[in-house]
Amino acid sequence: MFNVVVLASGRGSNFAALLSAQTRGDLPIRLRALLSDKTRAPALDLARNAGIAALALPPREYPDRASFDRALFSHAAEFSPDLIVFAGFMRVIDPAVIGQWRGKAVNIHPSLLPKYPGLNTHARALQAGDSVHGASVHFVTAELDGGPVIAQIELPIQPDDSPDTLAARLLSREHRLLVAAVALLAQGRIVLGVDGVEFDGCALRVPLRLDDKAIMLPG
Ligand code: GRF
Repeated sequence: MFNVVVLASGRGSNFAALLSAQTRGDLPIRLRALLSDKTRAPALDLARNAGIAALALPPREYPDRASFDRALFSHAAEFSPDLIVFAGFMRVIDPAVIGQWRGKAVNIHPSLLPKYPGLNTHARALQAGDSVHGASVHFVTAELDGGPVIAQIELPIQPDDSPDTLAARLLSREHRLLVAAVALLAQGRIVLGVDGVEFDGCALRVPLRLDDKAIMLPG
């Protein structure tokens, strides 16, 4: 079975989406653990209630960022993950640490990358006057929201949208996108090759796009 460890700093709705899909039998993975940098992250309770190992590591207990990152990933490694999913995990990882997980860590980000890496993506999309917003799943590198993009989902922006309404409408799409992308990774259909993302053995030149029914190649 394909072992997955999830990192989350907060609410954990993306973790919950993975958990539901696994429970329904729609996702061929075994969720092994939820690790957090926040002792009170609601995501930890979701994991505990589901009988999944839940562990909080407070960064202040480590002398510096790199030591925290080393500790975090060595705890993650105890669960033999085939994949580490950053699901609302609000930290950038030390290059030497994340470099050892090349192609084995993905992040869900609420924008159509490369647009709007970092925070406040919904407000930034509105400020820019965009007509379309969305979310991306990408491989994690040491660059903030900068790794190779695997798949995206779009969301039309309405004239009366606020950052909050946009975030709320995007969230259910994020969940579907993350489940679909993790399924492709678990099936071995998506890998990070030497030159970038590969889908079914071919270079993926543009991210996969998830529409309302399925994940598909753009074009
Ligand atoms: C999501 O919008 C995710 O894209 C972003 O942080 C949020 C986390 O939400 N990186 P949740 O904790 O999964 O509910």
